[in-house]
Amino acid sequence: MFEHLKAIPPDPILGIIAAYAADSNPKKIDLGIGVYRDEHGNTPMLDCVVEAEKTLLSTQTTKSYLGPPGVVGFNTAMSQLIFGADSNALQQGRIRTVQTPGGTGALRVAADLMKVAMPEAELWASDPTWANHHALFPAAGVNMHSYPYFDVESSSLRFDAMIEGLQQRGVGDVVLFHACCHNPCGVSPDPEQWQIIADIAAERGFTPMVDIAYMGFERGVDEDCLSVRLFAEQCHELIVASSCSKNFAMYRERVGAISIITRDAEKAAAVESVIHNVTRPNYSMPPTHGPAVVDIILHSKELAAQWVEEVAVMRNRINSLRKTLSAKIAASQIQRDFSFLARQSGMFSFLGLSVEQVHRLRDEYSIYVVNSSRVNVASFNQGNMDYFVEALATVLND
Ligand SMILES: Cc1ncc(COP(=O)(O)O)c(C=O)c1O
Repeated sequence: MFEHLKAIPPDPILGIIAAYAADSNPKKIDLGIGVYRDEHGNTPMLDCVVEAEKTLLSTQTTKSYLGPPGVVGFNTAMSQLIFGADSNALQQGRIRTVQTPGGTGALRVAADLMKVAMPEAELWASDPTWANHHALFPAAGVNMHSYPYFDVESSSLRFDAMIEGLQQRGVGDVVLFHACCHNPCGVSPDPEQWQIIADIAAERGFTPMVDIAYMGFERGVDEDCLSVRLFAEQCHELIVASSCSKNFAMYRERVGAISIITRDAEKAAAVESVIHNVTRPNYSMPPTHGPAVVDIILHSKELAAQWVEEVAVMRNRINSLRKTLSAKIAASQIQRDFSFLARQSGMFSFLGLSVEQVHRLRDEYSIYVVNSSRVNVASFNQGNMDYFVEALATVLND
């Protein structure tokens, strides 16, 4: 059966992790992997998570099956967090949120749901988008296309071209948006631009799908839900794939959710039953540890407030690293303009380097970057930035 199978090359990011681990240069920097890091290069647990885990340990009495919806308190809390407690769609019973294994799980369930609801529906994603979108949707049998998004020359949003692309979409198309902190380019529409996008979605009748994997990392927990809330107000239907991996720093616990908005409450119940029907023959039921922790946090006034503060610490650190790095580059002998680093948001940005320059950073300086030159800004710290700028100056100026 397996005779004809050939080994598939590892994901380039995994290759970088291995090469970085094997590198003995004390100045090495890993700018590849997409996790938040503190000033010491660690990815710590949040205090609110540790606190909630203690509560969970002392109160949980069984590990028996919970059933397809998973932790119901988590589902309710996530609906309120994402859409806002005063959301009309929420009050009308048109929203259903179901726990999934991480944001990736939510996206896969969304793809499976699309295939059941409208098998011929196609997905339109930004150019570029998260590499796993390109693997995940076709793996579920969903055809994927792209709409213009990022301008390489100016490192900014191609808003007019994007709008032109969206104007051509209509009923039966699903259009995928990154709510904030776009992965990989770090560029987001501003609030006015989101309003225009939501108007077009309502007018053209396509179904928006929002991937919100970095809520709280761009402008704030509530602020980063703006696009979701505009779509929720203006469109009859909406799909949201959310992740708690980054903002609760619970990466390996696989905490995420799919939320669906339908025309009425009856349809919402039907869609939820279809979600359970597609997950049952897949993973049967979602894992509960992580969501139970998030449930405790979001249902405690104190812990929820602490969480908002801890997210702000991560956001402010990334934003300040962006400013410092951009200023250090401007003050160096580097001629090229990198001020876009300070204007973009979230963990990722493209440096605009050639593959050859990326390889020189790795081979000559032990600085590990994926070939597209996307870097994780959160991997910088006061101790490694000057070394990086020096290395960048050499590979750019030689
Ligand atoms: C854009 C985007 N969507 C979704 C995810 C999924 O995250 P997870 O499955 O770890 O929750 C990620 C993670 O890197 C991401 O960058």
